[in-house]
Amino acid sequence: MTENAGLYLHLPYCRSRCGYCAFVVSTDDSSRGEYLEALEREAALLAAEAAGAAFDSIYLGGGTPSLLRPRELTRLLDELRRRFDVDADSEITLEANPDDVTPGLARAWKDAGVNRVSVGVQSFHDSELSAVGRRHDAAGARRALDVLAQAGVSLSADLILGLPTQTAASFRDSVSEVSRSGVAHLSIYLLETEKSRTIEEDRRDHPERYLSDEAQADAWREAGEILADRGFGHYEISNWALPGSAARHNVKYWTRAPTLGLGVSAHELWGERRRANVSGLPAYLASLREARRPTALDEEVTPEAAARERIFLGLRLSAGVPAAEIEEWIREAGEPLLSDDYAAWLETGLLERSDGRVRFTANGFLLSNEILCRFV
Ligand SMILES: C[S@@+](CC[C@H](N)C(=O)[O-])C[C@H]1O[C@@H](n2cnc3c(N)ncnc32)[C@H](O)[C@@H]1O
Ligand code: SF4
Repeated sequence: MTENAGLYLHLPYCRSRCGYCAFVVSTDDSSRGEYLEALEREAALLAAEAAGAAFDSIYLGGGTPSLLRPRELTRLLDELRRRFDVDADSEITLEANPDDVTPGLARAWKDAGVNRVSVGVQSFHDSELSAVGRRHDAAGARRALDVLAQAGVSLSADLILGLPTQTAASFRDSVSEVSRSGVAHLSIYLLETEKSRTIEEDRRDHPERYLSDEAQADAWREAGEILADRGFGHYEISNWALPGSAARHNVKYWTRAPTLGLGVSAHELWGERRRANVSGLPAYLASLREARRPTALDEEVTPEAAARERIFLGLRLSAGVPAAEIEEWIREAGEPLLSDDYAAWLETGLLERSDGRVRFTANGFLLSNEILCRFV
């Protein structure tokens, strides 16, 4: 029997598109009624496959799930509980744009069963927020965090490092402020400039508006120190949490626990099959109109691929991976260059080996992309 499974639902509608965003989103919500019906139909199709599985996390991501009307959210969560075996103590997370948060809505989210809200704060500086077209300002982000803290849900916030006009000092202020705002969990993402042509062109034409890679690395290290002082543990490359507040659902992705993904562009790992839904909204809706699963990719994960995934996903966590597993994998890969590099990463302190496990050091996390891609 499958236990501790997770459900992800993608809600693609946004009021406006932020300059840096490459998620599958739509600013035209005329299809939203049909989309919600399609999600219910998809849940019905998946329910047979998930028979006997017990779920203890639901993640409503997007897009902007905070745009759902309370009765839509209640109906959706009720439907999931009806179709799947969802534990009463499940972690139920909703991603929210600060602009949407009101005391009434926060109460409605709680009443529907949401017990964790992840707020897209990004920065506490108006110039940085407007430079990427966020629809809220810093005061709006503060207000949203206050309202949600008073509503008594577990709070997470997202910040971005590398925003146009951001400085080391302004980033430090944002980290410091968010760590005192009542959040139990924080994600810090490096701005992925290649995801948006506008941002990429702006960086090329106005490099002075962006922190250099070295300055970003220093700012990242400093953020880690501020957060450690305030009791936040760095448990995954981009994530920090107070004790006991690591994101139960997200950890499933790095530990390869079973998850189902519903909605346009959603991904899943179920019974050693990786599947991805189509990424176009019309194709998603058309498929479910005919009660067909909207799958674009469906492949078996071979034992060899699973071993590789356990390494490059497990290394993202500060707990790391069993030394025997990574070393056996490197031996079997039979690439002398990789063995030499592995020895050098340990020697230069990018990786550390202790208690039978191998993990990134603080410096190693900064170069993790270059190291992880060697295992992909
Ligand atoms: C789906 S959004 C969160 C909810 C809501 N849509 C919002 O933006 O407030 C998930 C998070 O991904 C991060 N993100 C999106 N695009 C990014 C990019 N190009 N580089 C870095 N982080 C990005 C942002 O921090 C954002 O809060
Ligand atoms: S960052 Fe969030 S609000 Fe902005 S476009 Fe992407 S999903 Fe929508």
